[in-house]
Amino acid sequence: MWQGDGAQRQRDGAQGQRDGAQGSEPRFLSGKVVRFAEVGSTNAVARRMAEAGSPEGTCVVAETQTGGRGRMGRTWHSPPGGLWFSVVLRPAVLPRDIGKLSLVTGVAVTEAIREATQLPVMMKWPNDLVVHGKKVCGILVEGRWRGETVDYIVSGIGINVAVDIANLPPEVQAVAGTLVPPHDPGAAPLRERLLALVLEKFGLLYRRFLSGGFLDILEKARLYSDTLGREVESACPGGLVRGTAVDIDADGALVIRTCSGDVRIVSGDVSVRCAGGGYSGQVGRW
Ligand code: BTN
Repeated sequence: MWQGDGAQRQRDGAQGQRDGAQGSEPRFLSGKVVRFAEVGSTNAVARRMAEAGSPEGTCVVAETQTGGRGRMGRTWHSPPGGLWFSVVLRPAVLPRDIGKLSLVTGVAVTEAIREATQLPVMMKWPNDLVVHGKKVCGILVEGRWRGETVDYIVSGIGINVAVDIANLPPEVQAVAGTLVPPHDPGAAPLRERLLALVLEKFGLLYRRFLSGGFLDILEKARLYSDTLGREVESACPGGLVRGTAVDIDADGALVIRTCSGDVRIVSGDVSVRCAGGGYSGQVGRW
């Protein structure tokens, strides 16, 4: 079963494929990096490649996406200046562990951005990355599985490296940030460095995850968390849950302490309480 929309797959023509270079390209496991000037969605291209048998570690990068996809069916605006890419994984895990991979990806990207920019990047549960409260990166993990067997996972990462926020829709402008200004001369090398660093760090953490080291990675996710300790609210099927975010548990779920006990949020929108009293900023779900 796929998480994601089937229609997108039909629309998702890729244009301007660059050389599927290997040589000096960054490496993740033994994967090759395939570059495009423009695609509908790198996740959709990576899914097709996975279905056609591409090996684990295959990475699809695009300069722009015309149909970039976010969690919960949202649109992910992907103009030039950002780093939009997806990685094919073939982990020997159970489908219920796929959500953990979302956290693993978030930790890897957090560490990569911190190392490349020294910016104080934090994780909003489960894996939105923010700098000074503005979202600079989103992660969309999708997969296909039959019964208890995972065929493949695609981990899609969108980083606003040098994006002109003023050109995004007003509702996105309100919450989005960029690592450097849109015409920063260092933007192109920064994108390349970030791609290499993410693939390197993701490769290491992914291997640790596969060998049973998720709890170590979870510790990092707690350390980098911008959600823990905050007043949050989450709309769940049973109603609105309000309280203090007190933990990310061993399954990657957010634990909210309410006046009537602890509630685990496995998926759903979580908003953080603002100083003025309201709640804002979708924290997302996998
Ligand atoms: C979110 O925060 O809602 C997740 C956004 C994920 C965006 C990335 S960009 C590369 C990859 N291709 C997509 O279509 N989506 C992901």
